[in-house]
Formats: sequence, structure tokens, C-alpha cells
Amino acid sequence: MSANTAELNYAGKTYRFPIVTGSEGEKGIDISTLRRDTGLVTYDSSFQNTASCRSSITYIDGEQGILRYYGYPIEEIAGRYTFVETAYLLLHGEFPTKEQRAQFSRKLNEYSLLHEDMVHFFDGFPRGAHPMHILSTMINALATFYPNVDLLSLKEDIDTSATRLISIVRTLAAFAYKKSIGEPMVYPRHDLSYCANFLNMMFNSPVKPYKIDADIVDALNLLLVLHADHEQNCSTTAVRVIGSAQVNLYATISAGISALSGPLHGGANQEVMNMLRQIQSRSETVDSVLARAKDKKDPFLLMGFGHRIYKSYDPRARIIREMCAKILDKLHVRDPLLDIARELEEKALKDEYFVDRNLYPNVDFYSGIIYHAIGIPEDMFTVMFTLGRLPGWIAQWREMVQDKNRKIARPRQIYTGPALRHCPEPHR
Ligand code: ACO
Repeated sequence: MSANTAELNYAGKTYRFPIVTGSEGEKGIDISTLRRDTGLVTYDSSFQNTASCRSSITYIDGEQGILRYYGYPIEEIAGRYTFVETAYLLLHGEFPTKEQRAQFSRKLNEYSLLHEDMVHFFDGFPRGAHPMHILSTMINALATFYPNVDLLSLKEDIDTSATRLISIVRTLAAFAYKKSIGEPMVYPRHDLSYCANFLNMMFNSPVKPYKIDADIVDALNLLLVLHADHEQNCSTTAVRVIGSAQVNLYATISAGISALSGPLHGGANQEVMNMLRQIQSRSETVDSVLARAKDKKDPFLLMGFGHRIYKSYDPRARIIREMCAKILDKLHVRDPLLDIARELEEKALKDEYFVDRNLYPNVDFYSGIIYHAIGIPEDMFTVMFTLGRLPGWIAQWREMVQDKNRKIARPRQIYTGPALRHCPEPHR
């Protein structure tokens, strides 16, 4: 037996399967011939041990807390590159040159305006509708206005659709917010950068002009960069699976948004704030929250803690935690929720339950505090996550559609229902 082969002994026979090795040395067993050769399938509930694709975009080492986009450590990207530059990196594999950045920004501006007929769609949503639901619906509807996205073979169409999506999602997100608070929509401006434009669309109003603050723009850039990709998480897997059926890009991304909205995924950032507020209002204490999280009879979880892949500190949480205090200082904001979050973290990290299970703060634990400080309302937190994650989803989708060996995603199952039986006479 060599290090490049894994052996399976089953029913008196030995089968050999090749080992595939990634560029960082991680190894997997290629079982693509397993069923053909043995009649067996693998059973891996919730994909805990399954690599569903080969990808060259993002590398994570969950044991060591490493995150890299195309080999670049997140610590070197965050705070140094803008979100637009990071989006370009994810879409093209390299950071843009000055000219490429200018051209990308020009295109983002060009596509920032929503088709005016779509603006009326917002009137159909009830007041108080969650902006994530509005956003996923509106993104899906884009396909009816820009049907060329189905022509996957033309590179230009993919580039155009990708750029349009990254630009227009920002307009849609801000419009959804304005609709939810009953204020007139603010249109995008060509003279503003990506993040400044978004903030202006969110907070400018006919009666109170919004003053763009460079520190707030920087904070937003940082948060979006940290969320830009995270390899095969739940929403990205949804994007790859749905996209494998050759569904158009907009419907595919809409599915990703729906997956992200769940409280166990991107929706956790809003849940963290609810939890911290309960402690602030004294309906819970730090100790009672920890006790409930540990109690197996209580479905409550410590929100913003734990991760399928990270079994050490999430590097994004570490950056956000460090930036949190600096940003709050710069903005002259004093938020008691930050003190509560720190106390909660400190106690959890000393608690046997969390230590034994390698449960650390994830990206959602501190991000809400910064969003709150820069004026983003809580029901927009997961929308902010969506803005950040969009380039990652598109890059992963593009990698999947351009893979010559791609096939429709179609897992198997272990059937556990009744064995063959025959239909009784119908009750009539
Ligand atoms: N609070 C209390 N216990 C937890 C938590 C938590 N936040 N997270 C995991 N555990 C416990 C589990 O109950 C389990 O305990 P057991 O071994 O006694 O049964 C053990 O830790 C292992 O957890 P799993 O559920 O197997 O971990 P999994 O990888 O399936 O789930 C997840 C990861 C969904 C992130 C989970 O930790 C969780 O629900 N966290 C809270 C929600 C959250 O913050 N989600 C955001 C994740 S980051 C993102 O999606 C952007």
C-alpha cells in the first residue's frame, strides 16, 4: 500500500482508491469509482467529511485558524485593500492594477442603477418584511430584466453579470432598507466609492443630508473584505449545487442569500445582538446565557460561537475583535454591548464545556457591534454579510461552471423507509 492510495477491505475483497492532495498538503480519498466497483456509497450526514469540489479560491486551516484568498493571508488583506479590490481578486485570481481597478470601478458605476420598472416591485412587499427576503426575491427577479446571463459560454456575459450583481445588490439592499422605514429611495452616485455610495443610499434623506465619514467607509470596507469568501460553507454549497443545474446566475445567488439568512449561518450576527441586549436589559445574565448554552435540554446556543471548520479562534473574529475597540474609539462611540461581549467571551473561553468542544467566537460574534456603531440597523446585518459574500459566491459559481468535468450535483441516500409493499384498496 502506498501513501498515494487508500485501501478498503469489504466482503473479502480489497479495493484501492487514489489519494488527492491539495496545494497546502491536505489529502482526500477519491471515491468516484466506489459505487461502480463495490456497490457501496459513502454515508456522510451534513457533509462533515466530504470535499465536494476542488477549488483554488480560498484556503482555510480550521485547526490553526488560517484563512487565505488565493494564497494571500486575510490579515494582510484586511485594512489594506478595499472591498472592490478584494472582489476583483476573488473574481480574477489577482489584485487589480491601477488601470484594472479604475475600469472595474467604472463598470460598477455603470451597472449601479436598477431598472426603473423594478423599483415598483418594492411596493408589493408588506411593511416590516425582512430585508433578506426582499433581497433574495429581487435578485431572482433580475433574471427577467437581464436574461443574457444564461449564455454561460460567453466570458463577457459572465463578467458583465458578475459586475452588475456586485453593483446592483448594493442598490437593492439600500432600497429595501428605505422601503422598510418608509423613506424615499436614494439613487447611486458615480462620484462615490462603492462603500461610500452604499452608506449614502442608506442614510441620505431629503431633510437630512448624510455626511460621509472616511472612518466609517474604512470600517465598512474591512467588514465586507472579511466576509468576501469562506470556501464551501452552507450558502456557497447552495450556490454550487443550484448552479450545477445550469440555473441562471441570479436565481443561483438568490438561493445563496436564502441559505445565508438562517440563524445558524449568516443570521447569527443579528441573534448575537439579541442575546447581548437580553443581558443588557437584565432579562438574562452572562452566567445564565452560558448555563443555557450548555444545557442539552435547552435548544439555546451561544450565538456567534462555534464553527464547523474552525476548531481554534476564527481569524476573522480576531481581526474584528481588535478593530472593534479602535473603530468605536474613532467614532467616539461607547457601547456597553462590547463590554458584555468581551465578558461573555472571556468566561466561555475558560469554561470546560466550550474548551472541550473547541468552541470559539466566530465572525458573527463582534461584527454586529461595529455595524451598530456605524448606524446599520440590526435587520440589515445579514444583508451586509450578503454584500460582502457576493464576490465569493460568484467566484465559486464561476469556477464550477468553467470546470470541464462538472456534472449536476446529485448526492445519493441510504433509504430507511418501508420495504416494498402493495397499495391497499383506496378508502371511498
Ligand atoms: N453553543 C453551545 N454549544 C454549542 C455551540 C454553541 N454555539 N456550537 C456547538 N455547540 C456544541 C454542540 O451542541 C455539540 O455538543 P455535543 O458534542 O455535546 O453534542 C458540539 O458543540 C459540536 O457542535 P456541532 O453542532 O457538531 O457543530 P457543527 O459543526 O454542526 O455546527 C455551528 C457549527 C452551526 C456554527 C454551531 O456551532 C452553531 O450553531 N453555532 C451558533 C450559531 C452561529 O454562531 N452560527 C454562525 C456560524 S459562522 C457563519 O456561518 C458565518
